[in-house]
Amino acid sequence: MIVLGIETSCDETGIALYHTEHGLLSHTLYSQTEIHNEYGGVVPELASRDHIRRGVPLIKQALKEANICLKEVDAIAYTQGPGLAGALLVGACIGSALAFALEIPILNIHHLEGHLLSPLLSTPTPTFPFVALLVSGGHTQLIKVDGIGQYILLGETVDDAAGEAFDKTAKLLGLDYPGGRALAVLAEQGRSDRFKLPRPMRHSRDFNFSFSGLKTAVSTLIKNHKITHQTSADIALAFQEAVIDILAEKSLSALAQTGLSQLVVAGGVGANTQLRKRLIRETAGIGATVFFPELEFCTDNGAMIAFAGAMRLQKQNINYQQQQAMTSFTVRARWDLETL
Ligand code: KG4
Ligand code: ZN
Repeated sequence: MIVLGIETSCDETGIALYHTEHGLLSHTLYSQTEIHNEYGGVVPELASRDHIRRGVPLIKQALKEANICLKEVDAIAYTQGPGLAGALLVGACIGSALAFALEIPILNIHHLEGHLLSPLLSTPTPTFPFVALLVSGGHTQLIKVDGIGQYILLGETVDDAAGEAFDKTAKLLGLDYPGGRALAVLAEQGRSDRFKLPRPMRHSRDFNFSFSGLKTAVSTLIKNHKITHQTSADIALAFQEAVIDILAEKSLSALAQTGLSQLVVAGGVGANTQLRKRLIRETAGIGATVFFPELEFCTDNGAMIAFAGAMRLQKQNINYQQQQAMTSFTVRARWDLETL
């Protein structure tokens, strides 16, 4: 069966076609980074309008690249939430209209489920159960994943998400939005012995995180030093080291506490090279394995939504009659993963 995935929860329009036997057939993506860059963050109304512009052309392109026609699609999966309500509504509208016209089932997918299943698109593939470290622009969570739809939240950030902390710190250092990747590049030139930042909640004896204090610590450093390129790089490195220390330590204790030996990392911050290196080294040290999505599937994309849709389709034994009768839809700006 072929599932068309539609992702529009924030500032990326992602479309993909996933075949339950042959894997990913194609995927197309448009990132709105340039549109939001001049405002220093995502402007929801501009995001929605651009999803409207990009959605259908990207679907046509994905079909062309997969060399199939729309009538061959067996189901549609769209991101129902969490995310920006207006942006989500665009994907929901396009998906529902297509499913209604084609008389095929529609699957409403949780964005974070998409992220945490994204490493299953690559080989070697993790097997259930595993611990997932979800580190995106909007979320930082440690989750015990027992199977599709079986998610136990072990802990999460009490304030900023890791990606958000990267972006806010990058902004303080004068880098463009979203600054996570640029900050990581700058950190490569940093000297690790110059600044030491705190590791908030390191000893909290739970799996929760806090990153907003780090941003404040960085802003104090900036106020108290003459900011040269080298100093910026030193600060970027000190910040990145602090975030990675906390993420790595808590992930390893989650493996120890659950007795599991597979760690899956998903979300945009999972693209961070130093985080990857550290987790590969430390999981190997305890006889565990870490799995990452392909770099292009770390940040938002349609492939993870099409894949989650395909998994759900196989698991749920969708009632076609019932699904076809549905002509209304809804989105969820907030949506707790554990309620799935
Ligand atoms: O998963 P994603 O698209 O966001 C949400 O769904 O919320 O991830 C985007 C986040 C941004 O905060 C971005 O700065 C961060 O991932 N990011 C990185 C890197 N690449 C992207 N953070 C650190 N290092 C990177 N290499
Ligand atoms: Zn995301």
